[in-house]
Parts: sequence; C-alpha cells; structure tokens
Amino acid sequence: MEFKNISVIGAGLMGHGIAQIFAVKGCSVTLMDVKEDILSKALDNIRSNLALMSEHGIGPEEGIGPALQRIKTTQSLEEASEGAQFVVEAVNENLELKQNIFKKLDALCPRETILATNTSVISITQIAQSAENRDRIVGTHFWNPPYLIPLVEVVKGRDTSLDTMEQTFGLLKETGKHPVRVNKDVPGFVGNRLQHALWREAVSIVEHGIADPSTVDECIKFGFGLRLPHLGPMENMDMVGTDLTLAIHDYILKYLESSPEPSPLLRKLVEEGKLGFKTGRGFQEWPEQKAQQSRKSLQEYLLRITKG
Ligand SMILES: NC(=O)c1ccc[n+]([C@@H]2O[C@H](COP(=O)([O-])OP(=O)(O)OC[C@H]3O[C@@H](n4cnc5c(N)ncnc54)[C@H](O)[C@@H]3O)[C@@H](O)[C@H]2O)c1
Repeated sequence: MEFKNISVIGAGLMGHGIAQIFAVKGCSVTLMDVKEDILSKALDNIRSNLALMSEHGIGPEEGIGPALQRIKTTQSLEEASEGAQFVVEAVNENLELKQNIFKKLDALCPRETILATNTSVISITQIAQSAENRDRIVGTHFWNPPYLIPLVEVVKGRDTSLDTMEQTFGLLKETGKHPVRVNKDVPGFVGNRLQHALWREAVSIVEHGIADPSTVDECIKFGFGLRLPHLGPMENMDMVGTDLTLAIHDYILKYLESSPEPSPLLRKLVEEGKLGFKTGRGFQEWPEQKAQQSRKSLQEYLLRITKG
C-alpha cells in the first residue's frame, strides 16, 4: 500500500471506526482527539469491534493485537500531522470547527498529504475555504459503522484536483471499501439525498394517515427493499422500461411529497421529547429492551452480510 501513515482527527463514533479500517490493513494510524477519555474509549471500542468480528469469522487474520498496536493516540494536532500521508477529519459536524482544522492541517502537513473530511452534509468547498492548498482537500463520506458498511462517497470540492480524487479512490479500494465518485459538491452528496427523499415520503405517508409507521417499514422490508441490494433504481428503471417509468412518473409525481421544509409531524415529535430510541418513544414505542434488540439485530445482519 502506497499510503502507510494515516491520521484520523476526532475519535468519536466515526473516527474510531475509520482508524480501525486502516490499522487492520497494516497502516500506522495516529488517532487524535481533544479529549483524553474519548481516546481511551476509542481503543476499547476498536478492541471490542474486532473481537465481535473475529467471533463471526471476519476479524483480522493476524489477530486483534497487531492491529491495535498500530494505532497511536494523541491530543496534539501537530503530532498527528507529522509524517501523515493521508488525514481523515471526523470531528463534530460544525463548519467553523472544520474550517479551522483544515487551515491548521494545511499549514502543518507535508504538501503532498491528502486531507479528507468525513462531513455528512457540509460543503467540501466551504470546509476548504480557509486553507491555501485546496486542491488536496476532498470529501470521504463513510457510513456508520464504517468498518461494516462498504460505501465511501469520494466527493470533489470545487478546488479538489483530479489527482487527489484518484489517489483517495485508490487508497479506499485498497483498504477493501467500496468508494464511489461524487463529481459535484452538493448538499447530501448522493447517498443522503436518496435516503432522505425516501424518509420525507415515509413521514408524509404517516402524517396524512395513509398508513401507520410499521406498515411503511413493512412495505420496504417485505417489498421493494428486498430488491435494493441487487438492483438499484437506475437499473430497475431500465429493467421495467424507461417508457413505463415515464408513464408512472407522469401520473404519480404530482402526488408525492415535495415540501422543502421538515414535516410538521416530525417537528411535533421533537417538541414533545419523543426522540426515538433515546427517549423510548418516537414515531413508535421503544422500550429499552426492544431498542437494544433492534440495534443488535442490525449489527448481526451487517456482520452476516460482511461475511458473505
Ligand atoms: N454518526 C454518523 O452516523 C455519521 C455518519 C457519517 C458521517 N458522520 C460525520 O462524521 C463526523 C463525526 O461524527 P461522529 O458521529 O463521529 O461525532 P462524535 O461526536 O461521536 O465525535 C466527534 C469527536 O470529535 C472530537 N473533537 C471535537 N473537536 C475536536 C478538535 N478540535 N480536534 C480533534 N477532535 C475534536 C470530539 O471530542 C469527539 O470525540 C461528523 O462530521 C459527522 O457528520 C457521522
């Protein structure tokens, strides 16, 4: 692998998982966070992720120890920048914080180092704004949990060079991820635009009394959702015919939700403190045990499909 020294800035939910991916593939990883307790928690989490993966037969062949030993932790951005060939930023989703970090990384890192941000929705171009060498700044949008979900959207900011795009794409492919190129820096990139188009319609169906929340989910889980891992919408439209798709769109699109604002039902739930799993109630009831079971079965499912 051409990239041997990787740094990850921010060791929270995403950062520790991203560090794990590179360490398992043999890279030396420097994991940086401003909080000492988060750093030690990150190492514990990586250890237990790898143990669980090993139980399912998809852990590192060399065992857990060597991968863990390749991860060094620090609270210093200077230390994390030293000798890093590829840096992934995974700090909180805050534009000013990210701009500040990229300005500093750009000043500290060797000129050829690639600087990537794991932002979910913020413009890569804006994040790069305060840095001088913006051609080396790129989006790498990993999905949670990053060590089990293969997709990484590699997002071209306005000033990202094609060389940065290609090197990033190549590195992610080498680490066993499934990178895709996003050619324009638009809010939500590709994955979240698709996901939230579906969620907006799902909420609208419930809000208008067309079906209850569990029915909406059943329509996906027992219906077209079964096809999705094998047949994306673009392939599906060709399969049924663009003529049939046109006829359907001609009739149905005017009836679909098109509000540019979040749903009033969603706002009401939040105002009433019905925040989902974390408060025991959202669109549906979530007693602690049911919420735990749901998290566990998702994890088991992801481990099973990763195993293949
Ligand atoms: N949570 C998800 O499902 C998900 C999915 C894809 C992308 N993302 C994106 O990944 C990024 C991180 O999200 P997360 O869920 O891991 O957040 P998190 O809150 O779990 O972790 C953020 C970490 O950044 C650290 N931090 C804050 N300021 C810092 C600084 N100046 N230097 C170093 N570390 C600093 C915090 O201490 C914290 O540990 C965000 O941009 C988020 O939008 C999140």
